[in-house]
Amino acid sequence: MIKVGLLGLGTVGAGTAAILLDRAGRHHLLQELEIVKVAVRDRGKARSVDLPDSVAIVPWEEIVADPEIDIVVEVMGGLEPARSAILKAIECGKHVVTANKAVISRYGDEIFSKANAAGTYVMLEAAVGGGIPIIQPLKQSLGVNRIQRVTGIVNGTTNYILTRMTQEGGEFADILADAQKLGYAEADPTADVDGWDAADKIAILASLAFGGRIDREKISAEGIRNVTATDIDYAEKLGFTIKLLAIAERQSDNTNVSVRVHPTFLPKGHPLAGVNGVYNAILVEGEPLGQVMFFGPGAGAGATASAVVSDLMAIVGVIHAAAATREETVDSPSNALHPLLSCHHQHYCSLAPLTALQCRYYARFLTTDVPGVIGKLGTVFGLHRVSLESIVQIGLNDRRAEIVVVTQSVNAGDFNTALDVLKALPEVESVPSVFRVV
Ligand code: NAP
Ligand code: HSE
Repeated sequence: MIKVGLLGLGTVGAGTAAILLDRAGRHHLLQELEIVKVAVRDRGKARSVDLPDSVAIVPWEEIVADPEIDIVVEVMGGLEPARSAILKAIECGKHVVTANKAVISRYGDEIFSKANAAGTYVMLEAAVGGGIPIIQPLKQSLGVNRIQRVTGIVNGTTNYILTRMTQEGGEFADILADAQKLGYAEADPTADVDGWDAADKIAILASLAFGGRIDREKISAEGIRNVTATDIDYAEKLGFTIKLLAIAERQSDNTNVSVRVHPTFLPKGHPLAGVNGVYNAILVEGEPLGQVMFFGPGAGAGATASAVVSDLMAIVGVIHAAAATREETVDSPSNALHPLLSCHHQHYCSLAPLTALQCRYYARFLTTDVPGVIGKLGTVFGLHRVSLESIVQIGLNDRRAEIVVVTQSVNAGDFNTALDVLKALPEVESVPSVFRVV
């Protein structure tokens, strides 16, 4: 049997244990996995899974150092002690399976360098998209393609909130409060609603898509707090829907990649526009494949555990293959890692600054309702090489007007400069919203 130590028995840990304790009808390699030790914070807490008496509850430090344990599953979450536990497990020669995007996106360099030196695997299928298989497809099945772009709805909480804002017409704060009451959003929703969780995930996907490490701290992440019912209404009128997108794309210079997270106006016909509620989806575009989209549950005990256990299964497979090779060539055993399961990135990708991006924009202006305002907007944009695709004016009370523009694809730096000039015009009272448009 291959012995597993489980760090964490919360949502994902309990889901993982449930699969491993109920193996009938699943892949035969699962029969060889046995959970022997589990670490939790509070031993007295009621659990959703009944562990056999043979499973010992011990501190995490004991699991990562136990010579009997072959694979450590880290599903504690957070940065520490998760990072230390992963590093210690590798140091002790264990393979690691983790769902922890926060740790991998920040400490992947340190973790994978150590794992490669130690000859152990660190697997992370559950870290992005929950139950959606996307890590191994990017490493393997899609690997022959030159990836141009990866675009994901990778955060279920924000997708749930935006979907409800779109369907019910409510404001962000009210729907967030309701989502928290219903258990769809965490008590502290910061990492989700400010785009940090999505940034962790797109850092991992970009690294796999573009074959280099990504500096997580350089990723621009803008969340959904500024999305208003008014903008959702305009999006609807203009034929768009608003989604929080995590985007990684190769730039036309073929040297830089752009990695970012922001609320985006998506045309209603876009493949990601119909992904609603807590669901996640990831659209991969490459040559020669074209587009392929992965869709499914991005979180939840069973879905995420499915991804965790798929990694365990892959490791059992390579342990078998390595054992067979050793038996055949007993004189020269090899510790080489399977190249399709390990990570051997040597360099950091060069990230393009946001100002170098070419994209379309939506901007909403509140102005005084006097003749010539639209003309002034058009002139200032034109002077800064920003072409407008559409412009809509709705009259408001008290001689104030609301003007919405959608630009053609323009340089982000040019657009921002034009915006600064416009904000200084006496007729422009404010620019409440600016979003990118796909
Ligand atoms: P969770 O429900 O909060 O569970 C965390 C578990 O870790 C708990 O059992 C907790 O013990 C244990 N733990 C925390 N600190 C510990 C420590 N210092 N020593 C020992 N045990 C400790 O979290 P989760 O939702 O399962 O998430 C786990 C990981 O999976 C995170 O990295 C998360 O981002 C990732 N993930 C989660 C989902 C999802 O749907 N939940 C989806 C994808 C990825 P107690 O139970 O005693 O408190
Ligand atoms: N908080 C995450 C989400 C959970 O809302 O998608 C899965 O990583």
